[in-house]
Amino acid sequence: MYPIHRNRRLRTNESIRSLVRETTISPNDFMFPMFVAEGKGVEVPLGSMPGLFRRSLDLTVKEVKELWSLGIKAVNIYVKVDDKLKDNAGKEAWNKDGLMQQTIRAIKDAVPGMIVMPDVALDPYSIHGHDGIVENGLIINDATVDALTRMSVSHAEAGADFVAPSDMMDGRVYAIRKALEESGHHDVGIMSYSAKYASAFYGPFRDALDSAPGFGDKKTYQMDYANRIEAIKEALHDVEEGADIVMVKPGMAYLDIVREVKNAVNVPVAVYQVSGEYAMVKAAAEKGWLDHDKVMMEQLYCIKRAGASIISTYFAKEAAIILNK
Ligand code: PBG
Repeated sequence: MYPIHRNRRLRTNESIRSLVRETTISPNDFMFPMFVAEGKGVEVPLGSMPGLFRRSLDLTVKEVKELWSLGIKAVNIYVKVDDKLKDNAGKEAWNKDGLMQQTIRAIKDAVPGMIVMPDVALDPYSIHGHDGIVENGLIINDATVDALTRMSVSHAEAGADFVAPSDMMDGRVYAIRKALEESGHHDVGIMSYSAKYASAFYGPFRDALDSAPGFGDKKTYQMDYANRIEAIKEALHDVEEGADIVMVKPGMAYLDIVREVKNAVNVPVAVYQVSGEYAMVKAAAEKGWLDHDKVMMEQLYCIKRAGASIISTYFAKEAAIILNK
């Protein structure tokens, strides 16, 4: 076909490239995951996530105001719970004055427009570091779903806009939807971690919350990374059960799944670019092996191009600053 087709014509300069660009990103696409701890004035740097901190509520609220001023419209909240408050049932998870509930209230008070999406899973509250209740070395599905339901209602009562179950128990989306309806929280949405893989990329996150499983692994509930069809099944089930948004997690190594899920569902797809993905870029940049900002932006564009409507990313703030320039 050459010379009729010279594909390079559309790449001649930045003006034409920007005219034909198929994907754009903006701070509106991002959610920022935040780690909250007890205390006041506390700011602990996270060793395996350079540039990020676990902060007490007062400093978390300050950070949320800054995120809002950068155009970031949603945050994912994870709490580090004192060991004394942990048990097998995760009861602290639905304490109406628990750290998560206080955090939700404080953020909604300070920045009412910020969409607050608390994590719904028992691991930060569990003496076993598992996402569910443990009996005889097994993670018990239905009893865990009851606990997650209480947890979700208590998040809704505290003012959460969405609840975000990340536990991978069966049937939890339907049970949570039903409980939210019955308690009058019709407008509280569910962002389900639908296709969440059992991934070694979660390592730095578990360091941040001190939430690594005490025995075994999470492979009886999180998905096998060798599987693809299962991700579509999970996402379709969650949509049927009432999920408003479905999520695929991790991000970069799973973009084939993102596209397939995107094509299979009629709800927005979120992608979680997880802690290990962040850590890899930081480490390589620190060594001078990669250009940090360029790699960060490339990854965010690629996640969006793959089909993400929303990206949960630890890079949200740094990327927003660049995008706002
Ligand atoms: C816990 C949870 C995890 C992450 C989000 N929610 C860890 C896990 O499942 O063990 C990981 C996020 C990240 O690595 O950034 N339910």
